[in-house]
Amino acid sequence: MPAILGIESTCDETAASVVVDGFDVRSNVVATQVELHAKYRGVVPEIASRAHVENILPVLREALAQADAGLADVDAVAVAHRPGLIGSLLIGVTAAKTLAWAAGKPLVGVDHVHAHLYSVMLEKNEPPPMPAVGLVVSGGHTALYRVGSWLDVELIGSTIDDAVGEAYDKVAAILGLGYPGGPVIDRLAARGDANAVRFPRTLLARDSVDFSFSGLKTAVLYHVRGVPGRGDNVKSVAAELSERQLHDVAASFQAACVDVIVKKLRRAVERVGAKSVIVGGGVSANSGLREALTRLPVPAFVPPMRYCTDNAAMSAGLAEVYVREGRFSALDLDAVTHSQFLV
Ligand code: KG4
Ligand code: ZN
Repeated sequence: MPAILGIESTCDETAASVVVDGFDVRSNVVATQVELHAKYRGVVPEIASRAHVENILPVLREALAQADAGLADVDAVAVAHRPGLIGSLLIGVTAAKTLAWAAGKPLVGVDHVHAHLYSVMLEKNEPPPMPAVGLVVSGGHTALYRVGSWLDVELIGSTIDDAVGEAYDKVAAILGLGYPGGPVIDRLAARGDANAVRFPRTLLARDSVDFSFSGLKTAVLYHVRGVPGRGDNVKSVAAELSERQLHDVAASFQAACVDVIVKKLRRAVERVGAKSVIVGGGVSANSGLREALTRLPVPAFVPPMRYCTDNAAMSAGLAEVYVREGRFSALDLDAVTHSQFLV
């Protein structure tokens, strides 16, 4: 039963985890930097990489301690080496290579979005029927994949502008809510009327499985600040919204996001002839989306909440599939800003 030590530092979470057999999570340590970036309402790359430097060793020690393991007990060191912020990626990749070399363990580099899809396997070990449609919805990614097996993943569609999590974060900023915006908008939406404001659903061409969220974000901006050139009294800050209006805007925005995602999923399921849908990434924590997924024509697999946002367990789990195939990485593994899955 191989034990794999996973490392994650692609964006603003420093994480390490020990996973046995690809699903049995022995530890899952995540040091979040949310507070460092909150005042800028988004991730500042230089701040993120410095925080990774400070966090990486304590996080690694804690992950091994919680798993009651030493480096000698792990069979491989896995790291998400792409895609992400280059300065952030470099910290995790350097730590992984150093540990692998020093302890004489094989190194496995995995793609972070691929690992988000694999996160549905953690703890449950219940493989989704394939081919499946994979959906990664996060702060940095919104993309659809054809998943023939865990090693056969092909990008079929992606956002042409903002990622859906990014739209959540920007709308939260427009509404004067905190960062990250997803959880707070999700909470407010539960108390609002989803039909209060009819925000646009951008579907692109008839059979397109690409996404666009920037129009929706602008529609929310205009709704709360007024439309320039229409004689509105355009405000530089969001108008004082009553609590009720705030809930309604949040619910209406969330409904537009969920409608578009579900519509694209249905198109993708049909195109791929999929037997299931696999959803990963921070926005897969969204309660509106999770609820809508139960109404798809095929079963949807969604990770437990703690594996929706960035973590290292998903990389350690996916690395098990690589180890079984003997697919190891050389010690000159690079940090790469883009995903390996491109059209
Ligand atoms: O996967 P993740 O941790 O990082 C990236 O790889 O980007 O995703 C973070 C994103 C943020 O944009 C956050 O606002 C969003 O996931 N998010 C949510 C929810 N929880 C986190 N969006 C909508 N609803 C949520 N409940
Ligand atoms: Zn992510």
